[in-house]
Amino acid sequence: MSGTRAGRDIVQLWFCPNEGLDEATGTLLAGHWLDEHEHEIARRFLFERDRRQYLVAHCLVRRVLSLETGIPEAEATIWRTSRGRPYLQVLPTERPGGAAGLDFNLSHSRGYNVVAVVRDRRVGVDVECLDRSAVRGFELIVESFAPEERAYLATIEAGSRRDRATLRLWTLKEAYAKARGLGLGLPFDSFSFELDDGQGVRSFRPPADDTADRWIFVELEPRPKVLVSLAVERGSEGDVPGLLLLHDGFPWGRTPPSEVALSARTSEYV
Ligand SMILES: CC(C)(COP(=O)(O)OP(=O)(O)OC[C@H]1O[C@@H](n2cnc3c(N)ncnc32)[C@H](O)[C@@H]1OP(=O)(O)O)[C@@H](O)C(=O)NCCC(=O)NCCS
Repeated sequence: MSGTRAGRDIVQLWFCPNEGLDEATGTLLAGHWLDEHEHEIARRFLFERDRRQYLVAHCLVRRVLSLETGIPEAEATIWRTSRGRPYLQVLPTERPGGAAGLDFNLSHSRGYNVVAVVRDRRVGVDVECLDRSAVRGFELIVESFAPEERAYLATIEAGSRRDRATLRLWTLKEAYAKARGLGLGLPFDSFSFELDDGQGVRSFRPPADDTADRWIFVELEPRPKVLVSLAVERGSEGDVPGLLLLHDGFPWGRTPPSEVALSARTSEYV
């Protein structure tokens, strides 16, 4: 029996700052839960803070997948596509509510980790912080954007409003590219978003091989200046998940998540 409310009309989002899992416990859990590939990556980090981020993120993924499927954390087999997108192995004996039809995506940045989980559709997620060091790289980021996005940003006076719009566009673009499984292999100028001023996506121009109405986009700000975007695929009959459940912290107990209603509008912003 799955430990959370599963369902094809629900998006589960698990948000966990690194402090949500203390260092000693994280190291212990990682020792038991992570597979050889994950241990190998963890060993390669030069900086301890990057290793810690990786361990928290991957313990979170395994815990969430276990809650969602009932498969014990250490027993979930995670494969990766040729482009590096992780997915859960589905066994022929899989029971309902298990790994079959489940899609997940992970993002981790500057002490924050998010995992999105859906059923019978694809999802992509990205988390970024609107802090000073992020802003320093913005000129380079904007160069990769579509012409209409660059033109839009040029209309905003340099400063915090433009920085926020830049990061909103970046997280949306990453979330979409990750939902497609292409990551940075998808040219970021081949598709574009038109943002509503305060919140929300007004329109989406997809790349040549996709359609706009296949996706809805969700923006959240679970901590001030921590922006999370999701790209969620519509179901095979065009249906949109009605609810997003936002879980905060490492999922030890059964603290109820916040509920965010979703609609068929292109985007929601919370
Ligand atoms: C996916 C990608 C956009 C990540 O961007 P990022 O902002 O630096 O990182 P995020 O924290 O948001 O996401 C990283 C996570 O996304 C997932 N991911 C990796 N590749 C992915 C892909 N192609 N699509 C979707 N998700 C992917 C992984 O879980 C990864 O975390 P992990 O490395 O700790 O397992 C970027 O790494 C990329 O483009 N990778 C693909 C590279 C590629 O084509 N490789 C092919 C040869 S191996």
